Amino acid sequence: MRVSIVTLNPGFFAGALDEGMIRIAREKGILDAALVGIREFATDRYGTTDDYPYGGGAGMVMKVDTIVAAVESVRDAVPGAQPRVLVTSPQGRPLDQGWVRELARDPHLVLVCGRYLGIDERTIELLAAEEVSIGDYVLSGGEPAALVILDAVARLQPGVLGDEDSARADAFSEALLAAPVYTRPDSFQGLAVPEILKGGNHEEIRLWRRRKALCRTLERRPDLLRGRPLSDEDRSLLEAIQKEETPS
Ligand code: 6GU
Repeated sequence: MRVSIVTLNPGFFAGALDEGMIRIAREKGILDAALVGIREFATDRYGTTDDYPYGGGAGMVMKVDTIVAAVESVRDAVPGAQPRVLVTSPQGRPLDQGWVRELARDPHLVLVCGRYLGIDERTIELLAAEEVSIGDYVLSGGEPAALVILDAVARLQPGVLGDEDSARADAFSEALLAAPVYTRPDSFQGLAVPEILKGGNHEEIRLWRRRKALCRTLERRPDLLRGRPLSDEDRSLLEAIQKEETPS
C-alpha cells in the first residue's frame, strides 16, 4: 500500500517513519510512505501557503491552489487508479476501526494535513476529499492525526504483524476493550499476578479474559456494547457481571 502525506512540515515525520512497525512495513516493501511538502508548490517567490480569511476573523487559511497542486503532483506520479484523498480536520468524520479496515484495503491513500484554523473549503470539493477527525480535542495541525492514520492502516497490511498480534485482531475481539495482561515478576510491591493466569488451564484463562474484557468495556465504554450482537457466552458472562454489581 502507498500512503502519500501532504504537509507543511515534512520534518515532523522524520523519526516516525524510521521506527517500529512503520519502519518494518517499509523495509518489507509492504508500505510505501511518501512525503510531499506543500511549500514546494507555492506559486509566489515567498513560498506563501496561507492567507487571510475572507470575511475577517483570527488566523490564516491554507490556500486552495498550493494544496491542489501538491495533490495533483502525487496523482501524476502514480498513474492508474485514483488515490483516496483524506483531509485531517476536527470537523471530519470520526475515525474508528471499521473505517480504518476499509482504508487499509485501499492501494493508495493521500493524507492532507490541515491546520487547525482550516483549509479553503474549495479544496475539499476539488479533490473530492473526505474529512477525517481522530477525536474530540483540538490539535494545532493535522500531522499527528496523519501519523495515527498511517499507523492504524499499516499494521493491518498482510505480513506486517506477527501471528500473535494478528490473531487478536478478529473483529469480535476488537469491538471490546482488552483484558489486563501481566508478565514477570510474579509479585511486585505486594501486587500479585492473578492465580488463574498461572494455572495453565487454557479454557479457564480464555473465559477469565473474556469476562475481564466485558467487565472493563461495561465500566469504561458502555457505548461499545450498545447495539452489538453478543455471543451466547458473552451474554451469560455479562449477566453474571451485572448480577454481581447489583445484588438484590
Ligand atoms: Cl484530524 N486535525 C486537527 N487539526 N485537529 C484534530 C483532528 C484532526 N482530530 C481531532 N482534532
